[in-house]
Amino acid sequence: MNKTETLTALPEGIARAAQILGAQGLVAFPTETVYGLGGDARSDLAVARIFDAKARPRFNPLIVHVPDLDAARAFAVFDVQAEAVAAAFWPGPLTLVLPLRVDAGLSPLVTADLDSVAIRVPAHPVAQALLRAFGGPLAAPSANPSGRVSPTRAAHVLEGLSGRIAAVLDGGACAVGVESTILGLLGAPALLRPGGVSLERLEALLGPLAMGGNSGKPNAPGQLASHYAPAASVRLNAETANPGEVRLGFGAGVADLNLSPSADLIEAAANLFHMLREADHLAGQGGRISIAAIPENGLGRAINDRLRRAAAPRGLIHAG
Ligand code: TXA
Ligand code: MG
Repeated sequence: MNKTETLTALPEGIARAAQILGAQGLVAFPTETVYGLGGDARSDLAVARIFDAKARPRFNPLIVHVPDLDAARAFAVFDVQAEAVAAAFWPGPLTLVLPLRVDAGLSPLVTADLDSVAIRVPAHPVAQALLRAFGGPLAAPSANPSGRVSPTRAAHVLEGLSGRIAAVLDGGACAVGVESTILGLLGAPALLRPGGVSLERLEALLGPLAMGGNSGKPNAPGQLASHYAPAASVRLNAETANPGEVRLGFGAGVADLNLSPSADLIEAAANLFHMLREADHLAGQGGRISIAAIPENGLGRAINDRLRRAAAPRGLIHAG
């Protein structure tokens, strides 16, 4: 990666940021809560790059940022209640978890292959200008390396991610300073993460809310429903395929499908969910899949985490 560009929040800087995003690059940008690390939410490669830049050990789902409710409707199903909450709090520091539209066209890496999606309409004028210039949805977790505090200034972003992302759009200090509140609207409304919109304000509109636990740990059993798990049995770290197995390869070697012939972990992450489904399809009812070893470093950790879940006995599968 080359030097990270610092862009000013003027039309030229915003146009350059949109251009980088259009080429599947990553741009950190200000929101009213914290700086987000943005990438095209429709692009497997861009989203894989987000996980790589942050060195996240797991493919937990990311928030999709859009400029307004109308844009959000292309990705999530809004019922009457979701419409009312959006009308009351957007734009602003509130994220809604809603059913994913079947025709959403988002990378499965954004939703961790769930059938729900977290969506937010940020109020920050620079975030708004960027979303409109880019003209598409942006996946954007906080712009810090995994496990470190969220950045509220462009300088904080550079401290953690300089050289790992294409650019940071400097919009000064973030006003709210904590992440958005996450409200689950899949069943009874549930507070999944406290944040910039207070519980009291939400309850004034919705009545008492269930506490959905810490959505920072979305892999807790039961917390995220309907995770895709292959129907075929899965054998990991397999040097070669046994007769009858569908072979999912990595690097050189004969394979039915290959996560990355050149052993590139970012490419493998981008292909992971698609190829797991395709391998399952090829294997058919009661079929078997063998998967090549993936190195346990960088994005390989997150890939292996996901593969271990795919290989776990069905009764032990957590929704995540
Ligand atoms: O303030 C914010 O929300 C910042 C700024 C940049 O907008 N963004 C942010 O994004 O915090 P991120 O991607 O780090 O937040 C992800 C959180 C995770 O804790 C995840 O569990 C939850 O959103 N989440 C995403 N999709 C979900 C889903 N389908 N169901 C439940 N939780 C979900
Ligand atoms: Mg964060």
